[in-house]
Amino acid sequence: MTPVINPQQLIDAAKDARTYAYAPYSRFLVGAVVLTRDGQLFKGCNIENAAYPSTNCAERVAMQSAWAVGARDIVALAVVADTPGPVSPCGGCRQVMAELAKDAVVFLANMHGQWVETSVAQLLPGAFDPRDLPPA
Ligand code: THU
Repeated sequence: MTPVINPQQLIDAAKDARTYAYAPYSRFLVGAVVLTRDGQLFKGCNIENAAYPSTNCAERVAMQSAWAVGARDIVALAVVADTPGPVSPCGGCRQVMAELAKDAVVFLANMHGQWVETSVAQLLPGAFDPRDLPPA
């Protein structure tokens, strides 16, 4: 069963997630949400750290929250931030999407009501493919 994908509903959920962002260093608040095929929503926000590289992006928190409870079939992902146009996910998040949410429809939004629909393949053409790794 595939749930109805309602972009505005997902963006609203991502906006709600954004209210929990912990971004005392950048002051840049990001919210994300993933929808799994069985209709579950998992939210994420960016969670920074004084040791800056230990920061987690909102998209990764959302995807990894789903995977952490065995919910691996992600059909949609939405992300929102206060950017002039729809927010652009960082390269690291794009690579993680390519592995954890590769078939997801992706909605990129801002706080001014603008959003676009895209895909993981469009966001990261030629992503590093884990199948290129030698057998373990
Ligand atoms: N950030 C995200 O949460 N997602 C992105 O795709 C871009 C960047 C966060 C990380 C950091 O907390 C802040 O935004 C500024 O880079």
